[in-house]
Amino acid sequence: MKIPVARPLVGDEEVEAVADVLRSGMIAQGSVVTEFESRFADYCGVSHAVGVNSGTAALHAALLTAGVGPGDSVVVPAFTFFATASSVSMCGATPLFADVDPQTFNIDPDSVERLIRPDTRAVIAVDLFGQPFDADALRALSDDHDLILIEDAAQAHGAEYHGKRAGSLADIGCFSFYPTKNMTTGEGGMVTTDDDALAERVRLLINHGQSQKYLHSAVGYNYRMTNIAAAIGLVQLGRVEGFNERRIKNARYLDRHLAGTGLATPYTAPGVRHVYHQYVVKVPADYPLGRDGFMNALADAGVGTAVHYPIPINRQPVYENEGATATCPVSDDLAASVLSLPVHPAVTDEDLAYICEAVRGLE
Ligand SMILES: Cc1ncc(COP(=O)(O)O)c(C=O)c1O
Repeated sequence: MKIPVARPLVGDEEVEAVADVLRSGMIAQGSVVTEFESRFADYCGVSHAVGVNSGTAALHAALLTAGVGPGDSVVVPAFTFFATASSVSMCGATPLFADVDPQTFNIDPDSVERLIRPDTRAVIAVDLFGQPFDADALRALSDDHDLILIEDAAQAHGAEYHGKRAGSLADIGCFSFYPTKNMTTGEGGMVTTDDDALAERVRLLINHGQSQKYLHSAVGYNYRMTNIAAAIGLVQLGRVEGFNERRIKNARYLDRHLAGTGLATPYTAPGVRHVYHQYVVKVPADYPLGRDGFMNALADAGVGTAVHYPIPINRQPVYENEGATATCPVSDDLAASVLSLPVHPAVTDEDLAYICEAVRGLE
């Protein structure tokens, strides 16, 4: 593909940092992880960050820390990546599927409120595609119903909501450092919080429930981050603002040059810094080639695209029972109409001009 839809930017500095760790012999969890955690906490504006080995592990540990278990339910958006919901099932709890807002594609507070039951213990709100969720509305709702609010910030490193960074918008924040994300550690994740007790509990659960070496006070997991991953993360953290600025600049170009094509370009809520993990357009139902035909034609022209996400989570085969009663018409509509165009920091000015020309040629 001439212009792929995602490409991680790792270079000599990351290679050197990993080589240093390998040479040190301290390759599992150690001081490099501690330094990465401390710098990532500062970046998010929170008191604690706990490194883990994936975004899914971050969500699972956050939910367990919130006390979620069998007999509980947790509200999640229907339109997101699978792990937002599967992490709830991993706790033995039931996901309840809320619909999303048709403009921001983020969880709709009214839909959440309609779903809350006596057994509901938490809500997971996702900063989808790099845009923070409606944190004021979800905070008020969670406080009213005594729910723990969890932010799935897997796609939103550096995003902001009224001056507050993603990862600081809920009781607990969860990040992923998968290679396509705004910054990467290969595989990896982070849990963020301002609550000392929650942070301590997360640390316990991600390390076999060990309160001291070989003393286990809980059944935990091995979700530890390695020094190797943290070394990559430290370099990437130094670069992520540059990456984000380039993503935003690329998005502005696409906004301007796709205006008038019939594609609905992304909406940004007021007071929000959107960091464009993905640049997601809506292809109208009457678009000449249809969404999938348009996607294939762009692929023929060398422009990589992707559908995030083609099936709402309530309609996934594994959620046949839980999803049966969910009504999420906006999620259904988005699954049928969205398309992600390349916006990552490796996309050049030349690439942007080429993408827009290719789109206009298919109108
Ligand atoms: C919204 C969302 N939540 C959770 C995850 C899970 O992260 P990971 O792949 O690091 O387990 C991802 C990314 O894959 C994601 O995009």
